[in-house]
Amino acid sequence: MLEKILNEKKIILVCGSGGVGKTTLAASLALKGATLGKKTIVLTIDPAKRLATSMGLAKLGGEPTRISPKNIEAQTGHKDIFLDAMMLDTKRTFDELVTRYAPNAAVKDRILENKIYLHLSNMMAGSQEYMAMEKLHDLVGHTDYDLIVVDTPPTTHAIDFLEAPDRMMSMLGDSMIHVLLKPALAMGKSGFFLFDKGAKLILKVLDKITGFELLKDVADMLDAFREMLGGFESRASDVKKMLQSNKSVFVLVTANDERSVSEARFFDEKMKSLQLNLNGIIMNRCFPFSEASEKEVDEDLKELSKKYGFELAEKITQVRKNEEPLIEEEIVRQKEMKSLLEKGQFFLKIPLFQGDVHDLEGLWSIASYL
Ligand SMILES: Nc1ncnc2c1ncn2[C@@H]1O[C@H](COP(=O)(O)OP(=O)(O)OP(=O)(O)O)[C@@H](O)[C@H]1O
Ligand SMILES: [Mg+2]
Repeated sequence: MLEKILNEKKIILVCGSGGVGKTTLAASLALKGATLGKKTIVLTIDPAKRLATSMGLAKLGGEPTRISPKNIEAQTGHKDIFLDAMMLDTKRTFDELVTRYAPNAAVKDRILENKIYLHLSNMMAGSQEYMAMEKLHDLVGHTDYDLIVVDTPPTTHAIDFLEAPDRMMSMLGDSMIHVLLKPALAMGKSGFFLFDKGAKLILKVLDKITGFELLKDVADMLDAFREMLGGFESRASDVKKMLQSNKSVFVLVTANDERSVSEARFFDEKMKSLQLNLNGIIMNRCFPFSEASEKEVDEDLKELSKKYGFELAEKITQVRKNEEPLIEEEIVRQKEMKSLLEKGQFFLKIPLFQGDVHDLEGLWSIASYL
């Protein structure tokens, strides 16, 4: 179903609230894309340990790591598949940014060795959403993957990710430039209290450092950093354009619960306001047989057996009987969800698997639904 997207698009962003299955779906989408012959990378955020291990990420993390083509072949039957996986390492991404974009080696060293930078970079590295955007920019600009699947960080709301560049820019823009330009800097520590709330984050960092050297370090770091601010701005705007282009698609993963419909509606509206296109919704952890029950509510075991064989038909009947009220609810939810979608947007259901999905086998099972 998603083959057309996997064949035609370059960037797939997998969004959704915390714990819905973003990392799992991103990895499955990437695996499926790779088996279609695309040179693919999946940028994962904090995958569960067993999944990371099975993707070969246990040691390397921040570097693209090739998933063994032999292992993929054993699982999928497809030969010579090119699938890289990498884990977002936020601190390292930030250091790489400084290294790559500092105007010269002296500025680079000045920043990387600055005490304030160490604090600041740890703080900014906390902004996984932003760093994922930077990494995406890097991957698009400096590598030749056909397909880049981006997992997004665990957030309470799926939209946090979309707003990351703007938030980051206002943080960098406001607080840094203020600190940099306000003459109060020269007045000593009490001067900082003159600043508006934009400087609060910086103050938090400064609080951790004492001593007279502080001011010199701050001034020095910000001065060096100022030369890079334009770059931050232009990359954020590049990423925005890239995400708005028809080469990028957004997929929303939702849970199978009451909140999912209103969340999806909210997400869709938010995306429209950001001029981004939601390409489809994947509802994860559905009842395995709800598709059958939706279409064949009235069919009896005999009829079902003709289609599915006796064993499966019996299971379907059993599940229906036990779970009927829940399945009914799910069907209503799915109808509501579909009614949100416009022409061209897809809706997919992934069943709940027994046990976690933690290896290539599990990812491939999910991929068969994509
Ligand atoms: N369809 C499924 N059936 C069974 N288990 C699933 C399914 N989808 C995901 N899981 C399991 O649910 C857990 C959470 O999934 P995952 O880590 O992909 O969610 P996430 O949205 O990335 O979470 P976070 O927001 O914390 O990053 C994992 O252990 C995964 O193996
Ligand atoms: Mg995740």
